[in-house]
Amino acid sequence: MTVHFNQLTKEPYLRLPAPQSNIIITPHRSDNIDEDAKSLSNILNDPKVYPWLERTPYPYLHEHGVEWIEAHCKENKKGLSTLRKNLEQDEIINTKNAVGREFIDDCPFTCIREVLADDPDTGAPLKDRLIGDMKLARYTFYEHLNDSEQRSKAQLKNNELPAGDENIIWTLGDFLAPSHHGKGIMSLAVRTLIHDWGIPHLNVHHIKCYAFVGNEGSLRVFEKNNFERGHTLEDWVPVPESRGGGKKSIVLVTWRGV
Ligand SMILES: CC(C)(COP(=O)(O)OP(=O)(O)OC[C@H]1O[C@@H](n2cnc3c(N)ncnc32)[C@H](O)[C@@H]1OP(=O)(O)O)[C@@H](O)C(=O)NCCC(=O)NCCS
Repeated sequence: MTVHFNQLTKEPYLRLPAPQSNIIITPHRSDNIDEDAKSLSNILNDPKVYPWLERTPYPYLHEHGVEWIEAHCKENKKGLSTLRKNLEQDEIINTKNAVGREFIDDCPFTCIREVLADDPDTGAPLKDRLIGDMKLARYTFYEHLNDSEQRSKAQLKNNELPAGDENIIWTLGDFLAPSHHGKGIMSLAVRTLIHDWGIPHLNVHHIKCYAFVGNEGSLRVFEKNNFERGHTLEDWVPVPESRGGGKKSIVLVTWRGV
């Protein structure tokens, strides 16, 4: 249950447990934008990935990736600098030590990376490549219609709750490169993000997500992490014309703490 700190690159990261301990979850990197944007466009133009996602542009251009990474680097700057200071002192923060610390209002751990080489002395990752993305964020209330007043009001109320408030409802979105599907990576990544970051640092008690009807892989990942399947909303989420248009039905899933 730890946030690790790479002393060589000054980067905080989460590491999945065995048998997936070659997978880490890191913040976006401002010094790696081109390479990461290339990986993102490879993944997000793949027909095994983009039809299951609501918001990512299609076709996904290199500049979409660059904008996405730059925006995240900017958004995470303040939270990461505080976290870095804490971690430089501790090297590894145990959940135990996190008790009594201020809760943080941010999830900088978004990039799923496969480690290609570790430093033999420190065990810190030396070389890796981006293979996916995930994010814990404040919930957007999919059960209310897109662009409805009810949705805006619910979002506003949830967004106004202060960091660490256990009434905040969170959501979690994810995708992985098809070359790495079906190996148990996302099931463990979701568990790691919730237990190593969400619970100890954000005080997460309640998460609500959805998957398109038919996305059994995603629903299974949620179920393996103790999310309960809720009801189905028929013809609910509008699909952009670039992906065929129309509306997709969704299944809601909910997690209520450990
Ligand atoms: C959904 C996704 C993130 C899952 O990642 P993953 O690392 O392949 O998932 P895991 O290997 O941890 O687990 C997948 C589980 O789903 C099961 N599964 C996969 N496809 C399935 C299908 N068509 N029907 C039934 N079960 C399926 C697997 O058997 C496994 O369950 P098991 O461990 O009990 O055998 C990945 O497939 C992906 O990126 N999909 C495209 C984007 C996406 O759908 N994102 C989520 C949007 S809500």
